[in-house]
Amino acid sequence: MRIQPAHRLRGRVRVPGDKSISHRAAIIAALARAGGRSRLTNYSTSADCAATLRCLAALGVPVEREGDTVEIEGAGMNWSHAPGEPLDCGNSGTTMRLLAGLLAGQPFASTLTGDASLRSRPMKRIIEPLELMGARVSSAEGRAPLRVEGRAPLAPISYALPVASAQVKSCVLLAGLNARGRTEVVEARGATRDHTERLLSLFGADVRTELKDYEGRLAPVVSLETPVSLRPPREVCNIAGDISSAAFFLAAAALLPGSDLTLAGVGLNRTRTGILDALQSLGADVVVADRRAESGEETGELRVRGHDAGLSPAATNANVIGGELIANLIDELPILCVLGTQVEGGLEIRGAAELRVKETDRIDAMVRNLRALGAEVEEYADGLSVGGRARLRGARLESYGDHRIAMACAVAALISEGESELTGAEAVAVSFPEFFTMLESVTER
Ligand code: S3P
Repeated sequence: MRIQPAHRLRGRVRVPGDKSISHRAAIIAALARAGGRSRLTNYSTSADCAATLRCLAALGVPVEREGDTVEIEGAGMNWSHAPGEPLDCGNSGTTMRLLAGLLAGQPFASTLTGDASLRSRPMKRIIEPLELMGARVSSAEGRAPLRVEGRAPLAPISYALPVASAQVKSCVLLAGLNARGRTEVVEARGATRDHTERLLSLFGADVRTELKDYEGRLAPVVSLETPVSLRPPREVCNIAGDISSAAFFLAAAALLPGSDLTLAGVGLNRTRTGILDALQSLGADVVVADRRAESGEETGELRVRGHDAGLSPAATNANVIGGELIANLIDELPILCVLGTQVEGGLEIRGAAELRVKETDRIDAMVRNLRALGAEVEEYADGLSVGGRARLRGARLESYGDHRIAMACAVAALISEGESELTGAEAVAVSFPEFFTMLESVTER
């Protein structure tokens, strides 16, 4: 795909439903009491969330979809439909890790597989707790395909997360639904997105998060008591817009002087808004309005404007992002690297080794693409730093099959001089199929 520089972005858009929330809403609706129908609106249009629906259907769950509205009939907590074929999770780590939790507590064996990228990603992080609970999970040295031999009921555990991962937390909580007693997850490496907890509560489960002492400091501890009976909420479950998709538009508008862009209905869950704090502290003009509560989450309207003066950090420490903040904006780090190339003083990202085990090695991918554009980049095992106020020149860019790398490169191309050529642009469909048409609709050249 050839991409020309842009002059500015103007207009108003609504990004599609949140990917993380959509996966969870579908899975939890499928676990609701037999016959209970859930209606999910603004369901993510991503290929990833379509994979979750396909897997649920293959497990015998009645799923109907029309556009972004999905209706799911609950199959109760104990399932009997052993899938004949391996369940194909495509590119989606969330599908695989969350379904593994659900399947661990079922009285049959099933196999989870996915594309080459997903089959290369670490799965020991879920195998370990699921085996502690009594399931057996065989793998190819900690990678998919995973064969999950379920056990009903499972044994409840108290598990301290060795990595700050919402997927692992959610995997254990979903398994905990079929354990007898109290399942606990200690977020020992810091808080991660809490959509699973919110949706389980919306469906009537008793899920609590408390700050407790863990090895001398306070950590969030999520606990779930069984027996649980999940029932669909009385009203539709309307899924908030995806802030991780919005992030590419926020950054592009902040980077192009004269831009004035409004994003409506964006999810503002506090475990996801680190990107807004980071943008603001790097000097971007982002204003939040029209806050509302919707289906257990908060949404709002974001207005972002780009200014001639460019981006200057609001405080001296704003040029470094690390520590427990990383989990809150983990998916936004590729686009933050692009933004960093234009910030006074540049940007350093540390403590983000998890980026190396995403859909691709996102540190390596961003280092290569930013260098191709002429940015000054230093690579670390756990992050990277980019020099600021760089003059980027159009180049050959590569998504490495990763949706967020593709979108970060597209934004970088908009702010560069001359044309860029992006290989693997179609990867955007994994999370945001409308990305290029939506971007085009607000771009002025
Ligand atoms: C997600 C959690 C994060 C994130 C991913 C979606 C989720 O992954 O990067 O895109 O929906 O729970 P980890 O749990 O591996 O940190």
